[in-house]
Amino acid sequence: MNLIVFPGHALKGSASLPADKSISHRAILFAAMAKGESHIEEVLLSGVTRPMLDAIQAFGVEASFQGTHLTVRSAGWRAWRAPIAPLHCGNSATTLRLLAGALAAAGVPAILDGSEGLRRRPMDRLIIPLRKMGVPIRGTSSGTAPLVLEARSPEKPLKAIEERLPVATAQVKTALLLAALSAEDRVTVTEPFLSRDHAERLLRAMGVSVETTFGPDGSARHCLTPPKKPLDPFSLRPPADFSSAAFLIVGALITPGSHVRLSGVGLNPGRTGLLETLREMGGTIRVRNVREIHGEPLGDIEVRHSPLRAAKIRGARVPAMIDEFPAFAAAAACADGISEAHDAEELRVKESDRIAALCSELRKVGVEAEEYRDGFRIVGRREIPGGKTHPHGDHRLAMAMAVLGLAAANPIIIESAEITEESFPDFSGVLQRLGADVRLEQKK
Ligand code: S3P
Repeated sequence: MNLIVFPGHALKGSASLPADKSISHRAILFAAMAKGESHIEEVLLSGVTRPMLDAIQAFGVEASFQGTHLTVRSAGWRAWRAPIAPLHCGNSATTLRLLAGALAAAGVPAILDGSEGLRRRPMDRLIIPLRKMGVPIRGTSSGTAPLVLEARSPEKPLKAIEERLPVATAQVKTALLLAALSAEDRVTVTEPFLSRDHAERLLRAMGVSVETTFGPDGSARHCLTPPKKPLDPFSLRPPADFSSAAFLIVGALITPGSHVRLSGVGLNPGRTGLLETLREMGGTIRVRNVREIHGEPLGDIEVRHSPLRAAKIRGARVPAMIDEFPAFAAAAACADGISEAHDAEELRVKESDRIAALCSELRKVGVEAEEYRDGFRIVGRREIPGGKTHPHGDHRLAMAMAVLGLAAANPIIIESAEITEESFPDFSGVLQRLGADVRLEQKK
């Protein structure tokens, strides 16, 4: 499927956005780990969260829908049964890594596998600390999926470790904290900067003690005490996904005449680095009605077209906008001056090598972009010539190129655009309802 974005149409009005992907993943899995009945309203059901839902059902947990309301009934993770077939995690590293941590706690044997793209992503960062805890887990000789977990006696607790992660990664942190539920004693996980803390917030709401303290260098140390009782079930409604909102925010900023309102958007500080960056670039963005629901901050975002200037990103800002570099790149392509990103090597092991893929796709539509080992450089320009681009199997790359098309001089065509469904169901429909001229056509 090709998505064709015709320029020259402002984005106007309000849009309702899909639920937060990270929180939906955690809510589905943690509900299956709790003992009792949990309720998740308007959970994100997309390409990346379906495998998580399939997995918990393979453990014998009951999941049922009334519309978009998901009810999960579980006897708790200690009662999980071994899945009879390998668990296919699709393109979702979050599903695979979080499941590895939860299965490590449960001691249930399983095979975790995924798409070709997922099989290329690094798993050693998780396998090594899990093995230190005594988890019988192995990957391929290159430290990738499929991952094989052998059965482990639930009577024998895992070892308590103090792990220092070389990069801030919420997936690995979360997986280790889940495994720690079954440890003999307190487990600490330290990351160089705080990554999104949705897991810590939800675990606390489920009665688990997770303490976070910060070092003078900005590092975040999380200490989990294994609970003596089953995890409490919960009810929650995930906020709208800031990472999905990011594309509409950037689309509105770069397209003349735009004025968009997005309500109930998640504002977890581990996620909103792009807001600060876009404001520093001169973006008119107002956040109102900030509130907290089920332990997560959210608010309403109002954004207007604004002339942007270039920005330089590095250090602690990087993990706080780790999923937003494609959206940032679209903004940088339209900004005045040369933008740069550094300290962002992690982008090379996302759904695509986002440094290489972003630079090559931007060049295809006439934007000057150059790779650095740990980031990129983009030369902003007033007129983007447009052209045809390919998303490299990366939903965020597809959406970034689509919003860039709103502000280009000629249409931008995104091939294999169905990939946007991974995290943003009906992305093109939402753009259309905001006034964009976009068309989906079968690939010829
Ligand atoms: C996620 C964490 C991030 C992010 C991903 C979702 C999560 O990955 O890129 O889209 O839900 O924990 P890393 O933990 O690998 O940085």
